[in-house]
This record gives sequence, structure tokens and C-alpha cells, in this order.
Amino acid sequence: MGRVFNFSAGPSTLPESVLEICAKEMMDCHGTGQSVMEMSHRSNAYKPIIEGVEAKVRELMNVPDNYKVLFLQGGASSQFAMIPLNLNKTGKAAYVDTGVWSKKAIEEARRYLDVVDVVASSRDRGCCYIPEIRKIEGDYDYVHITLNNTIFGTKWSYIPDTGDIPLVADISSCVLSEPLDVTKFGLLYAGAQKNLAPAGVTLVIIRDDLIREDLPKFVPTMFRYDTHSKNGSMFNTPPCYSIYVMGLVLDWVKENGGAEGMLKRNTEKADLLYNYLDNSDFYHATVDKGSRSLMNVPFLTKYSTGATDEASLAKEKEINDKFVKEATAAGLVNLKGHRLVGGMRASIYNAMSIDGVKALIAFMEKFAKENA
Ligand SMILES: Cc1ncc(COP(=O)(O)O)c(C=O)c1O
Repeated sequence: MGRVFNFSAGPSTLPESVLEICAKEMMDCHGTGQSVMEMSHRSNAYKPIIEGVEAKVRELMNVPDNYKVLFLQGGASSQFAMIPLNLNKTGKAAYVDTGVWSKKAIEEARRYLDVVDVVASSRDRGCCYIPEIRKIEGDYDYVHITLNNTIFGTKWSYIPDTGDIPLVADISSCVLSEPLDVTKFGLLYAGAQKNLAPAGVTLVIIRDDLIREDLPKFVPTMFRYDTHSKNGSMFNTPPCYSIYVMGLVLDWVKENGGAEGMLKRNTEKADLLYNYLDNSDFYHATVDKGSRSLMNVPFLTKYSTGATDEASLAKEKEINDKFVKEATAAGLVNLKGHRLVGGMRASIYNAMSIDGVKALIAFMEKFAKENA
């Protein structure tokens, strides 16, 4: 079987040129006679690798010197706990609830903080938009937002002004998909398995003043940012190979115009798909214009009417299952929608080619005709 177009929400497709380099270097990376997978993280061969990846993150994301770049483990989900554990001073934080991952972050913060205020939410309409909350005030230790909501396919089109309160953002599913002003944030974090690398590494970018040594004793060593910043993300064995592949992906991003180049590429892909959806009688996008993600595009067919009688639900399921099955046979995989939204979802991360999106639209067109 040849390569498929993989629309998975994560882990997701990687640039083919990166996979080719990985394959070529598997037995002997740069004359070391070994794969990076096998290298000691303390070796002379590995040290320049992790340092180089940090330099690439700094360059491509324009990270100022007063921020640390950390490569951690435990997924973005561990950040849901690390953030309140490390940023807690008065026991109060504000969160904006825009979906599943925001909610998980909120629930986790409530384990550690006295007050977690949900200052805005899009639950009233099933998380199909980003609320308007341009200014957030209060005596909070930090404010948390999820910049791109992988499941519902929404994305903040603006950055809220939080004044002196550190703004924390989960950028797991939009990291490096477009330029981002790091100075507007106190902390950014991203699981790598969408736009950066294979699963296993979490990128954290944190402003120096938020890294504290005076944390309560119960905060586990591995859950303290100071542990990792003092040790150059080498307190324990880092996910060496995922970090290495992140470096290769970042080289690819640079070759393709950096964050600006990604924005251009991603806008072109997303415009094609949304325009097709907006002009179709058979499909429709689920997210309000103005809140749409460039990365995750959920869509429904005309058989998703909102009716809850048995016959309508059965018809809807039949069509969705048929779509996913026939798409898979056509080499377009992982298009099943999340159960909370239903229908289909195409994740079109940085590495998805314009040809992949065109192939998807051609398939959708054919399917619509056959099932009108
Ligand atoms: C926005 C967002 N945050 C957090 C997570 C959880 O990431 P992890 O599986 O790395 O813990 C995901 C996973 O898809 C996500 O999309």
C-alpha cells in the first residue's frame, strides 16, 4: 500500500521528507554507527541535538531570552496539573471553557486551587464558537485558554488582554501553524504529536519569573518547572528520539517559510475546504465563521438534522459510517468525527499537503453525488 492522506487529530501525519531522513538514519545517524533512539542522552552526540532543537524553537517562534524552552513528558495532560501546582500563589485562577481539553484543564486545576473561575464559556451552543472576552481582570494567579480546540474545531482569532495576570495557553493543536506573539503569554504548552513530532514530548515555553523554587514540599520533583529548567530538560531521560524528530520537523518548517509560510499554506488548505463546505448542499461546517480552526475541520452531512428519533439517527450513522469506510478505501484515513460533534473531522495540520485537501474535496464531491 502506498502512503495514505492521514487526517488524524493526533498523532498525525509528518512531512514525508522527515520520515525519509528518519528511515535513512535508522542504522547510522551522522556517522555515529547508531540510531538517535539508541544514544545516551548524556553523550557528546546527543547534547548538540537537544540544544539545536531548542535553538530552532527559539528562532521559529521568536522566543525572547527571558523565556525557557522545556521538553517534558506526560503529554499536554500533565500540564493541566503542573500549571496550577507551579503558578499557584493565592489559590485563584481563571479559565475559559471552550471544549473538552479546556474542561479537563479546569477539572484538574480544581484539585489544587481553592477558586477556579470559568470567566467565559461556549457551552451554550455546543462549543461551536469562541466567546468574546477581550479583557480579563481579577486577582487571579493566571488565566488559562485553549487556543485551538481540536475536537470542536474552534480557534481564538484574538488574544485576550489579561494585563499583568500571566496568560497561559494550550497550543497543542496549533503550535507553529501561524505566527504567535510569545510575549503576550506567561506560559505556552503543546503536546508534540500534531504539528511537531511523534508523541512523547511536550513543548513548554515559560517566562522566567513564573519558574519558582519556593513551591510547597508536596509538589513532586518531576512536576516542578524549576527541576527541568535547571537541568536543561535532562533531569531524567528525556524522550530523545521524539525531540530529535521535532528538530527535523522544525527544519522542514523553516525550509517552508517558517511560521509565516505555515500560515500561508494552512490558510490555502483551510479556505479550500471551508469554501467547499459553505457552498455545498450536502455538507456543512459546524463552527461559526470567525472562530474556525485552520487545523481541525469538523463537518456534518445533510442527514445530521438534529432530529433524535430512531430512524433519523440510524440514517445519520449509516451515512457517516459509509463516508468513513469509502474514504478509507480511497486512501483518505482517520476522518471519523469525535463522538461529541458527530459527522466527520479533517485535521489538516502543517504537514498535510494541499494535494491531500484537494483529494479529500474530490472524494466528498463524489460521495455527495452518490448519496444525495
Ligand atoms: C488541545 C489539546 N490539549 C491537550 C491534549 C491532550 O494531549 P496529550 O494526549 O498529549 O496529553 C490534546 C490531545 O489531543 C489536545 O488536542
